[in-house]
Amino acid sequence: MCGIVGYIGKRKAWPVLFKGLERLEYRGYDSAGIALLQNGAFSVYKKKGRVVELSKFTKNQNQLSGGVGIAHTRWATHGVPSDRNAHPHLSSGGDIVIVHNGIIENYLSIKKILVGKGYRFKSDTDTEVLANLIEDIKKHTKVEIDEVVRLALAQVSGAYAILVLSKDEPGTMVVAKVGSPVVIGIGKKEFFVASDATPIIEHTKKVIYLEDGQMATIKNSKLLIKTIKNKTIKNPYVHTLKTKIEELEKGGFPLFMLKEIFEQPKSLADTMRGRIVLDKGNVKFGGLEKFEKQLRSINRLTITAMGTARFTGLIGEYAFEELAGIPTKVEYGSEFAYREAAVDENTGLLAISQSGETKDTLNAIKEAKKKGMLTLGIVNVIGSSIAREVDAGIYNHVGPETAVASTKASTSQALLQIMLAIYLGRMRFARGLSKSKAKGILKEMQKLPALAEMILKSANNIKKLAKKYKNYNNFFFLGRKYNVAAAMEGALKLKECSYIHVEGMNSTELKHGPISLIDKNFPTLIIAPIDSMYEKNKSSIQEIKARGGPVIAITSLGNKELENITDDVIYIPKTLEMLTPILAFIPMQLLAYYIAVERGNDVDKPRNLAKSVTVE
Ligand code: AGP
Ligand code: GLU
Repeated sequence: MCGIVGYIGKRKAWPVLFKGLERLEYRGYDSAGIALLQNGAFSVYKKKGRVVELSKFTKNQNQLSGGVGIAHTRWATHGVPSDRNAHPHLSSGGDIVIVHNGIIENYLSIKKILVGKGYRFKSDTDTEVLANLIEDIKKHTKVEIDEVVRLALAQVSGAYAILVLSKDEPGTMVVAKVGSPVVIGIGKKEFFVASDATPIIEHTKKVIYLEDGQMATIKNSKLLIKTIKNKTIKNPYVHTLKTKIEELEKGGFPLFMLKEIFEQPKSLADTMRGRIVLDKGNVKFGGLEKFEKQLRSINRLTITAMGTARFTGLIGEYAFEELAGIPTKVEYGSEFAYREAAVDENTGLLAISQSGETKDTLNAIKEAKKKGMLTLGIVNVIGSSIAREVDAGIYNHVGPETAVASTKASTSQALLQIMLAIYLGRMRFARGLSKSKAKGILKEMQKLPALAEMILKSANNIKKLAKKYKNYNNFFFLGRKYNVAAAMEGALKLKECSYIHVEGMNSTELKHGPISLIDKNFPTLIIAPIDSMYEKNKSSIQEIKARGGPVIAITSLGNKELENITDDVIYIPKTLEMLTPILAFIPMQLLAYYIAVERGNDVDKPRNLAKSVTVE
């Protein structure tokens, strides 16, 4: 993971790099660092911890001049988080400085050779090996720095996005990418480089997404892109960014997670905007139009994703089977990429990812393509690696999601899959979906933004519950049918934000083992709306209560019955069974948020995590 930023131009590089790191901090926050090229030598400022730690260096502003620099915010893979392991890394002789996102898999064998040649290493990272390898090749060849970097990259395997500066060529920055994202922003005689577009937006709207296997040389205000393998010159497509800078700010909320939870009435509306054709009982997706013929021939579907996105896939799985009659399976991207799945060219792959950068999911797409499958994506970040890799895609259109815990993207992912199930159901003859049934679902769907708003109005009740339950060490989250996924997602939300141990599962699974854990110190949250599973869920509640376990129920507004048999009740408005998880997500997000705040955690950036998991 980690975020990299680079600047080369006429301004002072430090403020551009520092602000850029703050925007990328969601990608990792183990350490941060900036290297500037000043008066023919590199000055490296780096510190364990958050980006803000770097402001300690800003006391002497003169020290920080320099119009060329590279920066990094780290999510450690090789070597503990520390000052020593923080990037940027200098080569032994101080000729080269580098920042790196990814993993150099064969770093140990290269390190051995370099140590044999007398190189000394200051860090435990794989990255420093690359810095020294570049320096070593530079010493022994008479070529320019971009060619030196290219020769070094020919020797490494793994994934990387790197920025390299050479002391002897002060007007040049080298960028290269395999497997990790890089965006280059083009200004007036200046260039910005970053892991995503957020550090670039305030400076320029014109960007290029570097492709896998490509490298860029920025030299004397000119940009040249070529392939790493054989130096073939590439003519890049220049994209125009549409994100507004306000979308990246907190807008009056104390933290991004709360802001993003409260954005859901709008984000759900934005997810549907222009896509629902009510009178035809159908849905339209611009990105799928050209693929109608291929979509008709799909007779099986594999959904691939990780974390929250995978849980929403479990909602999709039921919807695709129920509405479109398409046998569907949900797979961890990390497994699909490596196991021999029984799929063929009539099996479609649907990849779901907020960031569009999750390496495990990206690997699954590449594997699916090798197997001749049609690949589809539900992605939030426009222009991200997954968005570009899939054959056809649907964007969430919910705007940037900054908090590490996914909220508004998840409800949108669930909603889009139900919309896609309707779209596929309506185009199939066998077990297809009738116009009137589709219309009924779409009408209920359109009410979701208003229903989400109602739930958010009762956020204070959930805040009170958070105070009551904040000190428990364990929880079960339970649900049935579509809400099994909701229980699992609710559990992940609470565990990642609060550091409480939480297990999410099917309500009925409890009695097959886990119930032995229940006692008065082990509360259960059960999603039990008035639906086809209500009576069964009620029995599960009784079983837990009979063993002394505290119970919080999420049920339908107006259903007072559970107040008598549970400890606390959270109400969500009535909707269709398949749409309830979308509403049930919201109070669980609030509960996770408020409990984490009560426990004094860093809610937007929980420990050990990063927003975008670009390593395997
Ligand atoms: C959940 O809140 C996240 N922390 C995490 O599980 C996330 O959903 C997962 O890493 C997948 O990310 P993506 O949607 O960006 O691919
Ligand atoms: N492998 C490098 C390190 O551990 C980069 C990690 C990353 O991409 O987050 O420092």
